[in-house]
Parts: sequence; C-alpha cells; structure tokens
Amino acid sequence: MIVLGIETSCDETAAAVVTAEGRVLADQVLSQLVEHRPFGGIVPEIAARAHLEHIDRLVARAMADAGLGFGELAGVAATGGPGLIGGVMVGVTCAKAIALVHGLPFVAVNHLEGHALTVRLTDGVDFPYLLLLVSGGHCQLLAVEGVGRYRRLGTTVDDALGEAFDKVAKMLDLGFPGGPEVERAAGDGDAARFPLPRPMTGRPGCDFSFSGLKTAVRHALAALPGPPGPGDVADMCASFQAAAGDVLVERCANALDTFQERYDRPGPLVVAGGVAANRTLRARLADLAAGRGTELKAPPVELCTDNATMIAWAGAERLRLGLVDPLDFAPRPRWPLDPDAPPAVGAGVKA
Ligand code: KG4
Ligand code: ZN
Repeated sequence: MIVLGIETSCDETAAAVVTAEGRVLADQVLSQLVEHRPFGGIVPEIAARAHLEHIDRLVARAMADAGLGFGELAGVAATGGPGLIGGVMVGVTCAKAIALVHGLPFVAVNHLEGHALTVRLTDGVDFPYLLLLVSGGHCQLLAVEGVGRYRRLGTTVDDALGEAFDKVAKMLDLGFPGGPEVERAAGDGDAARFPLPRPMTGRPGCDFSFSGLKTAVRHALAALPGPPGPGDVADMCASFQAAAGDVLVERCANALDTFQERYDRPGPLVVAGGVAANRTLRARLADLAAGRGTELKAPPVELCTDNATMIAWAGAERLRLGLVDPLDFAPRPRWPLDPDAPPAVGAGVKA
C-alpha cells in the first residue's frame, strides 16, 4: 500500500511517497524562506501563492523519485488543517483533484497528527505514548492512545515555544526562523548570565506559558548599557534556551506522572514538531526520560520540521483503518487533536 502525501499548511511546500510498511520512496520539501525573510515572518498571502506556484512540480518530482504512476497509489493524503487556510486549500485541492481523476481515496490529515505519528514510522513506537508537540504554532502534551485518539494533558496559555524562539531571535537580529539561529548562538554562551523566569513551574498540571519569558528577555536586553554584542547575544540565547529547557522538563515530568497513573506505564516520551530539532532540548528530555526508567523517542531532525512524509504516513495509518474523507471535505484553520480537552488554566487559550 503506497500513499502520496501533500503538506502546504505553513511555509513549506512538500510532497512525499511512503509505503504502509514505512519505506519512504520520495520526500520533496521546498522551503519558502527566501520569500518570507524580508518580512521577518510568514506572510500568509505570499505563502498561499508560493504553494500554488510550486505544488504541481513537487508532486510530479515526488512521483518520479518514487518511480510510480498515480494508478499505483492506494490513496492521496493532504494536510486538511490546522494552518494558514490559503495554503491548506492549495494542498487539499491538489490532492482531491488527483484522487478524483485516478479514482483514489482521499485522506484529510490533521497536521498535528502528522507530527504525532512520525515516530511510529521512524521508530515503530507502539500506542500509548506521551507526546510533547512543540512547534511554531503549538506547544502541547498529549497522551496518544491510537490513530485519531488523543487526550490533551496540557497546552500553552499564550505563545508556542517555537514562536518564543522566533521572537527572541528577532529581538537579537538573528534572522528567521529563529529557532536554529538561537540554538547556534547559544553554543558558546553562558546560560547562567541572565536570570530568566521559568513560567508555570511549580504549579500542578502540564500547561505552559512563554510570553513572560519572552518579555523578560526584552527587559534584560533593555537593561544592557548598549546594543548587545556577540557575547551578550550568545549568553542571552544560552540563558533563554536553558529556561525553556527547565520549563519543558518540569512540565513533562508532571505529564509522565499522569501518564503512569492513567496507562500504568512510565512512557515512552516522544517529542515532535519543529522545536524538537533542538539538540540541547532533546538532551534534557532524554535525561528526564532515562531518570524515569523510560526512553525519549524523537524523529530525525528533518522529520521534526514540517514535511510531507509525516502526512503520507498518517494517511497510510488512516487508510489501514479504513478512515477516508469525502471530496467535499472543507479545510480547517483550527483543528484540535482533542476537541473535548478542558481549556488551559489561564488567558488567551490557543487550540
Ligand atoms: O513544526 P514546524 O516546522 O512548523 C510549525 O508547524 O510550526 O516548526 C517551526 C518552528 C519555528 O518556530 C522554528 O523556530 C522552530 O520550530 N525550530 C526550532 C529549531 N528548529 C526549528 N526551535 C528551536 N531550536 C531549533 N533547532
Ligand atoms: Zn508543524
């Protein structure tokens, strides 16, 4: 069973071909960084136009890499949300057209489910597992019980962690996207130089908050005698990354307790989403898991950031269960994995 996957929900146009046994036959990703960089962030209209311009070629290239015709596919999957709606519409329309012309089933994949199930492709992890999903738009802890079955244990009450990385990078003039730049700059910095807060730690539950941390970075920079020099930038990045790591570890520790109580097993702990590419944070989480007698499972870096392999794989997982979507599926700008989750404790809750 072979599935074509399409991802267009943010600033990566991507197409991939994956087998139900987990072989990746093609994995095409085209980043729109050049288009968005002058604006210091993602401009939805520019993203939608760029997806439209590139998607046909990327799909054709993925099929050529796989050496397959559309007739040999078992189905076509596309990210159906959540994300920037113009882009999601481009991918969904492309997938529906292929499905209609070739008489194939269409699967609308929740982008977050794509991130959530990737470790089953890369590491064969069985259900249930505890998932820390950390990206530019999301910061959640979820118990993954099965395909389409998620229990949210915690979420951010304000910014996502990737968003905080991006904003700190912007304050330091490090460019966009900020996560990899902050990680690089933190390399030779002193993590103890700036005493930053660890929001939410010490409180019960598994919710996150990062906007206060970002503001504390702003204040600490304003208190410097002049514009930050390279040493200041390195120390700030290291201090910020250390604070983010402390918060993740403390919140994940609470979530592992809850997970143990509910499922009678210590883990595993899985980390996914763009921020999971951060090696320092991964190492912190691996230490936490090891101390709890369980393991951290993390997809390789290129499958942590947005890609279509995860969408094709989630599509294959859904098809295997007979989960198919109608061709009148409407793209969803918001699409929580656990719609029944109680709201996070705090203001300005994001789904
Ligand atoms: O999952 P993703 O590619 O897109 C979303 O669905 O949001 O995540 C992108 C986010 C950005 O905020 C980016 O700065 C962050 O992931 N990111 C990182 C690193 N690589 C990407 N954050 C920290 N360290 C990294 N190495
Ligand atoms: Zn993502």
